[in-house]
Amino acid sequence: MSQEDRQRWNSKYQQTTAPPEPSDFLRSLEGRLPRKGRALDLAGGAGHDACWLARRGLDVTLVDISDVALAQAETLARDAGVPLTHLRLDLESDPLPPGPFDLVVCLNYLWRPLFAAVPRLLAPGGLFVFAQPTRRNLQRHPHPSKRFLLEEGELPALLQGLQSLSFTEDWTDAGRHEARVLAQRRLY
Ligand SMILES: C[S@@+](CC[C@H](N)C(=O)[O-])C[C@H]1O[C@@H](n2cnc3c(N)ncnc32)[C@H](O)[C@@H]1O
Repeated sequence: MSQEDRQRWNSKYQQTTAPPEPSDFLRSLEGRLPRKGRALDLAGGAGHDACWLARRGLDVTLVDISDVALAQAETLARDAGVPLTHLRLDLESDPLPPGPFDLVVCLNYLWRPLFAAVPRLLAPGGLFVFAQPTRRNLQRHPHPSKRFLLEEGELPALLQGLQSLSFTEDWTDAGRHEARVLAQRRLY
């Protein structure tokens, strides 16, 4: 377990309070996401996306390395009156929670080996939502730094065993250059 990563993220979360609003990308997919079943938010941070999914009726599990983020997510869920399962995991080394999930979300976290595990986490027909800035983002923002950024055009090739339903790579309204995908595990 990366104690250094945990401490770094804990101190970031100690200094900020996450906005309770879900990500714009997730909200833009509203009509396409399930309203029942199980969802997994990978590196879900302080729970703004997980709680939004839970409010929509999903049974949500949030995993993250940061205890502070998980405590904030727990508070957010309690305040919203929704159930939320949260697990402290290092996604680079710990086993993933058992599927199948109807929805797996991974926003603003890049660990390339994780893509191989996603089809096994999903139920047949289950959806995967992923977004991460690309290297072009450095033209406007110093962070995230290069090692956390996707190459332009890289994302479709990282998807394994999934069918891409939509892929975009562009400047977002928030001024970030992001690759975004909605993908699906085939039904059979
Ligand atoms: C940029 S934040 C994104 C949080 C959230 N998904 C969002 O979009 O707001 C990255 C998250 O990854 C988590 N993280 C970093 N390394 C991790 C690891 N090895 N295992 C699990 N979570 C990790 C951090 O604690 C942090 O919550």
